[in-house]
Amino acid sequence: MPKGKKTVFFCQNCGYESPKWMGQCPGCRQWNTFVEETVSTGNKGNSVQGPGSGIKNKPVALTKIQAREDDRVKTDIEELDRVLGGGIVQGSMVLVGGDPGIGKSTLLLQVCRQLSEKGHKILYISGEESLRQIKLRAERIGEFNDQLLLMCETNLETIRHTIEEVKPEAVVIDSIQTMYNEQVSSAPGSVSQVRESTGILMQIAKGLGISVFIVGHVTKDGSVAGPRVLEHMVDTVLYFEGDRQVAYRILRSVKNRFGSTNEIGVFEMQEKGLVEVKNPSQAMLNGRPTDASGSVVVCSIEGTRPILIEIQALVTKTNFGLPRRTSVGIDYNRVNLLMAVLEKRAGLHLGDWDAYVNLAGGMRLGEPAIDLGIVMAIASSYKNKVVDEGLLIFGEVGLSGEIRGVSMAEQRVREAEKLGFTACLMPKANLDSIQGKYRIRLIGASNIKEAMGYI
Ligand code: TYD
Ligand code: MG
Repeated sequence: MPKGKKTVFFCQNCGYESPKWMGQCPGCRQWNTFVEETVSTGNKGNSVQGPGSGIKNKPVALTKIQAREDDRVKTDIEELDRVLGGGIVQGSMVLVGGDPGIGKSTLLLQVCRQLSEKGHKILYISGEESLRQIKLRAERIGEFNDQLLLMCETNLETIRHTIEEVKPEAVVIDSIQTMYNEQVSSAPGSVSQVRESTGILMQIAKGLGISVFIVGHVTKDGSVAGPRVLEHMVDTVLYFEGDRQVAYRILRSVKNRFGSTNEIGVFEMQEKGLVEVKNPSQAMLNGRPTDASGSVVVCSIEGTRPILIEIQALVTKTNFGLPRRTSVGIDYNRVNLLMAVLEKRAGLHLGDWDAYVNLAGGMRLGEPAIDLGIVMAIASSYKNKVVDEGLLIFGEVGLSGEIRGVSMAEQRVREAEKLGFTACLMPKANLDSIQGKYRIRLIGASNIKEAMGYI
């Protein structure tokens, strides 16, 4: 081993560093994710304005600093602008993560198109596809002008020189796992390479005021560093979610230094690239079965926007001793907990029944306000009785079967009315503030026994 180098082990999922190999990562609890990498010890030449970097930095009065909202550049892809908090902030770094093939490159190429259309100079650097492949993709998306420059490159030194020469206003790096820096000895895609590369790009972004988009593949096998190891470095982290089989794609912000998190944007993958879904509630409820037991509609607040979505439950007799429970799009443990509450507080004997709970449209929801919907769907399927299709349900369910109030109840009611629902089953605690303001019938319930009456 040359002097000044040492080997350490990194978790490829979360970047946890350890001097020895471990089977399970203490940081993220994933198995088999540690990979040996060589790192240089001693002088870290690339630290961002660390001590001794020679840059004289002085404190400035907060009031003297100029910053305006219109420093943001809108992409005119509304769903994306909202997720970004109102547009792209100059000099910011945005990480777009997601499974391979979900549409990251397509989305960013569309962003490039919008920005170049507005006269911004954009540089798209791909380490994955050839110029011809990008061209073919671009042809599906639409017409492009001369402001978009393409380059196939993986060496960061070359990329740095190109950026300094071309001086674009935004740069897209597709993907960070293919980039490498000669100073780091480990392979491209390893934790140290990915971090070092991001660090260099960060310096470029902040130094020249260029907005940088980085693509990061979410990897399952743990041999390549995932985007999570970069989350703390960048300004904004967006994840592209959804099934490849389902056309809907959800763009979710999990970190945003310039806007609210948990905001989502909904897209649909079509023949000509990603198309915005302006009214997601409508889209998610399309094709909903009528007169089917186990199907209810809930309302979840995603960021600042209410979204109506269908929950389906199927409860059937268990064939072999142990009942099966599965859930798609909803936390599995939450479903189990709510079934226990139903058993104990509403007297449903679910012990020898299988239960399958699904969220339609490839969405994932974690808000407690959908609890009551899950409970109602399971009970409806168990009793084989239909819940009125004009009924919207929301409310958090506690362990003693009580229905607790939720935030932003009024927005939920408004969205339900807008989409033609006739009634809302909601927590009694939320009723007072909304009663009488809307034409839609409001039904308050304080525990799940009361709620069962509406099946
Ligand atoms: P892509 O952007 O290459 O995914 P990623 O960069 O996240 O790996 O998206 C690839 C998928 O999208 C591919 O399966 C083809 C599909 N697609 C369409 O359906 N329509 C289109 O117009 C485009 C460009 C891609
Ligand atoms: Mg791609």
